[in-house]
Amino acid sequence: MKLLFVFLLLALPGLHATALADINIPIETQHTALVLRVDTAQNLLNIYLGKRLQNQAEYAGIRGNPRNEETYSYMFQSAYTPAGGRNLLEPAIQALHADGNPSLDLKYVRHETKSAGSGIQLTTVYLKDPKYPFEVTLYYKAYINEDVIEQWSLIHHSEKTAVRLHKYASANLYIPAKDYYLTHFHGDWAQEMRPDETPLAAGMTILDSKLGTRADLFQPPSFLLSLNKPANEETGEVIAGTLAWSGNFQLAFEVDPLHHLRVIAGINPYASDYLLPPGREFVTPALLYTYSSQGKGLASRNMHNWARKYRIPQGQGTRLTLLNNWEATQFDFNEDVLTALFKDAKKLGVDLFLLDDGWFANKYPRNNDRAGLGDWQENVKKLPHGLGYLVKEAEQAGVRFGVWLEPEMVSPKSELYEKHSDWVIKAPNRQQSVFRNQQVLDLSNPQVQEFVYGIVNDLLTKNPTLAYIKWDCNAAIYNAYSATSANQSQLYVDYVQGLYKVLARIRTKYPTIPMMLCSGGGGRVDYGGLQYFTEFWPSDNTDPLERIFMQWDYSYFYPAIATCNHITDWGRQPLKFRTDVAMMGKMGYDIVVSKLSENDLQFSQQTLKTYERVHDVIWQGDLFRLQSPHTSDVASLMFVNPAQDKAMWFNYLVGNRYKSGTVEPIRLSGLNPAKRYTLQEVNIYPGSRSFINANTATYSGDYLMTVGFNPQVSANRASVVLELTEAK
Ligand code: GLA
Repeated sequence: MKLLFVFLLLALPGLHATALADINIPIETQHTALVLRVDTAQNLLNIYLGKRLQNQAEYAGIRGNPRNEETYSYMFQSAYTPAGGRNLLEPAIQALHADGNPSLDLKYVRHETKSAGSGIQLTTVYLKDPKYPFEVTLYYKAYINEDVIEQWSLIHHSEKTAVRLHKYASANLYIPAKDYYLTHFHGDWAQEMRPDETPLAAGMTILDSKLGTRADLFQPPSFLLSLNKPANEETGEVIAGTLAWSGNFQLAFEVDPLHHLRVIAGINPYASDYLLPPGREFVTPALLYTYSSQGKGLASRNMHNWARKYRIPQGQGTRLTLLNNWEATQFDFNEDVLTALFKDAKKLGVDLFLLDDGWFANKYPRNNDRAGLGDWQENVKKLPHGLGYLVKEAEQAGVRFGVWLEPEMVSPKSELYEKHSDWVIKAPNRQQSVFRNQQVLDLSNPQVQEFVYGIVNDLLTKNPTLAYIKWDCNAAIYNAYSATSANQSQLYVDYVQGLYKVLARIRTKYPTIPMMLCSGGGGRVDYGGLQYFTEFWPSDNTDPLERIFMQWDYSYFYPAIATCNHITDWGRQPLKFRTDVAMMGKMGYDIVVSKLSENDLQFSQQTLKTYERVHDVIWQGDLFRLQSPHTSDVASLMFVNPAQDKAMWFNYLVGNRYKSGTVEPIRLSGLNPAKRYTLQEVNIYPGSRSFINANTATYSGDYLMTVGFNPQVSANRASVVLELTEAK
C-alpha cells in the first residue's frame, strides 16, 4: 500500500523524490528571516517574514497555506505568483507564450545558498514551467549584519519566438498579521516626501508612478509597513521597503480574503509589455527591505548601514562642502562674476564651487530655461575662455570646481534638436508636449546613450580635475514613443536600462567623482540611481522649516551622507536656523556670500569648521529620531558614532504657538548608558551665549536616556545644536 502511494506520487508529472516532504528554505540575517517552502506539489510558498528563530529546524512547524480549501486557488502564498492558471489574486508575473497560451505555471526545480562576499549570503531558487521551456530564477541576497534583504528575479525561456511579458515583478511577499498600517509618501515640486499613514483595507492598494523619468515626483518607490499596530520610532514591528528603479514602479499591497497581506513590487506593468526573445534574460530591479521588531528607527538605521556599506559610492568615505550659484545668479553670470564667487567660496571655507545651469549653448544660448539644452558647448559670450579656464581659476582661488549637467534632456530650441529630432521621445501625429520647456532624449537608442556618455566623458577628459557633477533631470516623459525602437511597448523600461548603461560606463571610468542626483528637486531618488551617485538633492524647497519635515521623512530610507542640504535665502528664518537644518546632512551653500553681514559670515565660517570636525558623526553615525516635527512643536534628532563616544543632537522649533518650545527634558537615544558625556552647544551666533556650560553639563548615558536633558528650545532659541563627547 505504502509502496503504491510512493509510486503514484513519483508518477505524477512534475514531481520527483524530493517532493515527498516539504522543503524549507530559510533566508536569514542576524535578526530576521524570510522562509520559503517547497510543498509536496513543488510549489514555492512564502511561509514567514519576521524575527529570526533561534532554532532553524523550528521553521518546519510554521503552517503553510492555512485553510487552503478557502482560497479556491491554493496560491495566496505563492512566492512568485504566475498569472493565468489557478491564480485569483494579483500576480507577480504574467506572460503570453510564443504559441499564444496566456497561462504560466511555475514549479520548484532546485535552490542553492552560497556566500556572495563578506557578510552576504545569496539564495537562488530556480523555477520552471512544467510544460514550456520558460524559467524564472528568484534571487535573495541577505546582508547579514545590516538585516537587509535584496530580492530580484531573472526571467528567460527558449520558446520558438519571443514571449510577451505583461508583468514581471521583483518581489512577491506574504505577510500575515492582525492589521497593516502603510506609510507612503507623496508630493510634488517643492513638496516632496509628505508621509501618510493609513490602515490597509481589504483588497488592493497601489503606489505607483507613470512619469517615466523623475518618476517619484508624485510618489517615491518607498514604504513603511507596520504590522499589527502602528509602529513608532523605538517599538513595533515594521518593514521598510524600497524599489531600486528610477522609472515607473508599482507597489501593490493586497489584503487577501484571509486578511493576510501580499506585497507585489516591481516595474509598473502600465504601458510596459516586454518582448523577451528566446535565449535572452530579463533581470528585474531589486526590492530592498528590512524587518525591524524595534520600530521605524531601527529599520532606517538598517537601511543606512546597508546603503553606506554596499550601495552608495564612497558611502563610507567623505564628501565636499560646496557653494552653488543657482539661487544667487540663476542664468545671469559671466567669467568675472564667477571668479569673484570662487573667492567668496574660499572666504566662506567650502571645498568646492558648483557652477549651475546656464553655462552652455551658442546658437540658442541658455539664458533662460526655454533654450539650449542639448548643446553642451560653453557659451562664448558668458565664458569666452571655456570651462578649463574656470577650473584653473577656481583652483587658484583655493577651491575645486564642479558643474551642472542635464544630459538626458533637450530643448526644442537647440541645435541638437535641429540635427537629431529622431533622438527625442515624441509620438507621431500628436501635439508635442514639453515639461519645463523641454523634452526627453530617447535613451533606448544606443546612439543617444553614446551621446550622453560622450558629454560627461568629454568634460572629464578635457578637465581632469573637474571635481563634481550635478546631474539634473527636469522633465517627465510625455507621448512615450521612440523613433528607432522596434518594441514601442517597452520604451519606459528600455529608457531606464539605457540610462543605467550610461551611468555604469561613467562609473567604470570615473569611479570616484562625486555626482549629485537631482531632478527639479527630489523627483528622482532611489537605490537604482544611488548605485551611481554619491548624493541626491531632496527638493528645490530649501525653506528650513519645510526641510526639517522633508529631511526627517527622507531619513527613513537614505543616510545623511547622501542627503544634500543647502543654505539658501528660502524661508524667513535667520541664517543660524537655516545652517543648523542644513548641517544634519551633506551641507552646502547657495547664497550671495558678499551680501552676508559680518556676523553671518563669521558664523558661517565657524560653523564650517565645526562641521569639518563633526561631520563623520553625522555621515557615519546611527540616526535616532527623538521627537517628530509632525507631532511636536520641537523636532529633535541625533546621530551617534559607532564607538558611542561622540554624538550630534539637533533641535528645531517648528511651531509658533504661545510658549512653544521644550518645557520638559528630551530623552536621548543610542548612547552607552555606562559612559559619561559632556554636552556643549555649537553653532552659537556671534554675540549670543549658551546657557549650557560644558564644565558642568556632564551626565551618564543612562541619565540622558532615562531622564533626558532640556535643550531649552524656545522662540528665542529656535534651533539648538549640541555636541556630546565622552568625558574621559
Ligand atoms: C532644477 C534644480 C535646481 C537648478 C535648476 C537649474 O530645478 O533642482 O537646483 O539646478 O534646475 O535649471
